Amino acid sequence: MIPDEVVEEVRARADIVEVVGEFVTDLKKSGKDYKAKCPFHEDRTPSFYVVPAKGFYKCFGCGESGDAFTFVMKKMGLEFVEAVKYVGSRCGVDVQEVRRQDPEQDPMRPLLEANAFARDWFTSQLWESAAGTRARAYLERRGVDREVADRFGLGYAPEDWRGLRGAAAVHGIGDEVLLEVGLLTTSERSPEPYDRFRDRIIFPIETLPGRVVAFGGRVLDGGVKGAPKYLNSPETPLYHKGEVLYGLSSARHAIRREGGVLVVEGYMDVVSAVSAGLDHVVATLGTAMTAEHARLLKRYTTQVFLLFDSDLAGQKATFRAGDVLLTEGLHPSVVTLPPGEDPDSVAQREGSDGLARYIEQALDIVDRKLQILEERDFFASIDGVRRALDGLLPTVRAAADPALRDIYASKVAERTGVRPQTIQDELRKAEAAPGRSADPPARRPDPRQRAGRGTVPRVGIPALGPERQLLLLLVKDRSWIDRAAELIGAADFVEPTYRVIFEALVEDPELQAAPDGLDLAATAALEALLGSDEELGHGGRVFEDSVARIRRKSLARRISGLRQDLLEAHEGPEAEEAREELQHLEDERKALGEDPATASRNLLKLSRGGKETSDG
Ligand code: UTP
Ligand code: MN
Repeated sequence: MIPDEVVEEVRARADIVEVVGEFVTDLKKSGKDYKAKCPFHEDRTPSFYVVPAKGFYKCFGCGESGDAFTFVMKKMGLEFVEAVKYVGSRCGVDVQEVRRQDPEQDPMRPLLEANAFARDWFTSQLWESAAGTRARAYLERRGVDREVADRFGLGYAPEDWRGLRGAAAVHGIGDEVLLEVGLLTTSERSPEPYDRFRDRIIFPIETLPGRVVAFGGRVLDGGVKGAPKYLNSPETPLYHKGEVLYGLSSARHAIRREGGVLVVEGYMDVVSAVSAGLDHVVATLGTAMTAEHARLLKRYTTQVFLLFDSDLAGQKATFRAGDVLLTEGLHPSVVTLPPGEDPDSVAQREGSDGLARYIEQALDIVDRKLQILEERDFFASIDGVRRALDGLLPTVRAAADPALRDIYASKVAERTGVRPQTIQDELRKAEAAPGRSADPPARRPDPRQRAGRGTVPRVGIPALGPERQLLLLLVKDRSWIDRAAELIGAADFVEPTYRVIFEALVEDPELQAAPDGLDLAATAALEALLGSDEELGHGGRVFEDSVARIRRKSLARRISGLRQDLLEAHEGPEAEEAREELQHLEDERKALGEDPATASRNLLKLSRGGKETSDG
């Protein structure tokens, strides 16, 4: 047999489009999905769909459906184990079979069974017992409805020293195993085992759906004085804190679908985000982000949005996590919440799109560091710049992705006024001297600078992505809209939300509010743009810079898409066409040039030459 974890890893990494594409050569992109004529029946119209975000395929003609494994099982006549090995070989997971274990002898099995029993028992205490009344009222007060509670398997541990112990005994689950998973505990005063969780809301911690490895418990308001707010299972053979992300087992599909993940600190932050409609959320549960956490996330996405508390401790945790993520090749952005707030409190106070609004304002981790340094006036003195560099370089250096590292290095050079060559030298120096602190230089207590903390700082740093920068300009000065529409099309935007907003602006250049029919995310983003009073600087320069950057990115995307197509294409007129198109795009890219200033000049020249510039 193949261990569950390995099967899951293959499933997570498998690209179903690639797997299906080996047998079905007429797959065509259709929105986010793909369609083709069905390989399982005589199909005249394409009724076979592949949904990469969910990892499955379905034929609306004959009803065949399944995942990457079932596809190769059916297509190649393989057994499940063979199918997993086959798919694993396509996505770089080394699938080793282990000897089928007698379930009776799997040492983890009794532990998992005990946890599964406890989870069910806690749930029934919450919903079906009189003792659960207070707990139900508590959840209601915090805005957790039954659907969300069930999704997370929330429960209640009654105020009883041997409630779970007694119920488990009736089911033949003994003290020993309950002690081993940490559900029972002993103390000096009481060598007799007793329930660890008492009078607490219970949050089961799962690694895979149904695989409960630990629990967290929160006191109800007015719990015993001095008791910790949250109590967690200890480390056990099943549970290693630094290797588990709360919520991941149910967030996986959403993370794929959204192309990103929100990382929060606490149980309630996860539950609240999901209540607010943001499903792609996980929590580190109060511990620091580990490399193992980062690798878990990387199976699903590289875009990580950090939503920690906005206090100093939260800020430190954010930048530590950022460096860990960068080291593992992920790309962290920072969501800054108002002082004293956490994602749960924001969702409670500002409603379900309140949180989304903050997320939309996320800044790349280095941009955020630059922003903080600016806020604290580091760039005003030579000494400050020197200290700022010391705070920035470890992060630049952490970036495992060479492109990202380069971008960071030039951002830092630009902002500090230090020559890029010097930055490179410093980076190398830092490499030779490991163990430097990666904290942001938060340790400059300058009383003049502290007053404004928390208000969104408006400083002239290059913190905006080109798409947001352009849209901001367009809403501020509508006269640019026509010119933008001449140079780029909606399809040039990567961010779907911005794409929709751009379309809406071209459609109605005068619009002052979100038009009907705009989805929630786009509405929130548009409102944020309309309400923003960020300073942009010289309109013409902002325009040229952002249009050129958007255009170049779009070209790069289409070029790599075509190259990929060509790799997979069979010779024929279609391949010929693709090659021509590729040549055309590459010429255009060359004409645009690499450096942003040249690019924007050339872009304008190209467009004056009447050249078609977009497939919008
Ligand atoms: P917080 O104190 O920020 O709690 O701890 P919270 O998530 O805002 O909780 P609510 O909203 O008051 O219910 C964040 C996380 O740190 C861990 C928990 O995992 C918690 O979710 N923690 C916190 C503990 O393990 N023990 C504690 O006593 C407190
Ligand atoms: Mn909270």
